[in-house]
Amino acid sequence: MTLSWVPEGVDTGLPSAARLYDYLLGGGHNFAADRALAEKFLKAQPNARTIARLNRAFLRRAVLFLIDNGIRQFLDLGSGIPTVGNVHEIAQKADPDARVVYVDFEDVAVAHSRLILEHDDRATIIQEDMTEPEAVLEAARKSGLIDFSQPVGVLTVGVFHFVSPERDPARVIAAYRDAVAPGSYLAFSQFTQDLQPEEMAGIVEVMKKSMNPMYPRTKAEISGLFSGFDIVEPGVVPLPLWRPEGPNDDDPAKAGIFAAVGRKR
Ligand SMILES: C[S@@+](CC[C@H](N)C(=O)[O-])C[C@H]1O[C@@H](n2cnc3c(N)ncnc32)[C@H](O)[C@@H]1O
Repeated sequence: MTLSWVPEGVDTGLPSAARLYDYLLGGGHNFAADRALAEKFLKAQPNARTIARLNRAFLRRAVLFLIDNGIRQFLDLGSGIPTVGNVHEIAQKADPDARVVYVDFEDVAVAHSRLILEHDDRATIIQEDMTEPEAVLEAARKSGLIDFSQPVGVLTVGVFHFVSPERDPARVIAAYRDAVAPGSYLAFSQFTQDLQPEEMAGIVEVMKKSMNPMYPRTKAEISGLFSGFDIVEPGVVPLPLWRPEGPNDDDPAKAGIFAAVGRKR
């Protein structure tokens, strides 16, 4: 049986990070192969559902922080399958004129994004590999939604752990940095081996069998990616420690992912 939301040609037997994350967040846009891999992921990192929730919560706080700092246009790289609290919903609730360009290379993420953005003329999705910044930037310019002479909020949330050293993460970030105006922001989160190294090694092993092998980075490596940006307080920290909205019980030592936001000089 073909489900109506399944794009033509998608290999339902090959698990993807987008669909695994959707499953961890309690979404319905995933296949048996994704769920099977997610169960292995959960064995390696029992806190995975909490980490997914914390990452999504960081995304929300980061967008609101950027809105507070005058950002009204967003480039969301590796945006994922739409779920609760999408960037355009958060941003347009704060300012209906806010514009969002989503970028993902996964078929289900793109198809579902197209569907929910059908009637929004201030948000769109581009199907590109975000490690090809020239193609992404050209498509973003063509969309007419982003004015590159004005500051942009570039979001790479929960995605850089899928960028291999061979893809040269520093080059990728530098290309986006150089394309945006001073006063633009980079909001970033990715898995690290500095927290729970054993669990991290387990996740890396599990994800080798997916479309998206993973590459954790140390705090020092992540800080190094912010060349040309001033990292705002509180720096590169575990997810729940990045400007929490209130007291919470989440254990930073088990948060798996570092988060940071920088402002382009
Ligand atoms: C874990 S999800 C994160 C979604 C969202 N940014 C969030 O934090 O809630 C990672 C997404 O990045 C996408 N992705 C991974 N590598 C990518 C690449 N090179 N280009 C575009 N998208 C990529 C995956 O398809 C997936 O949808």
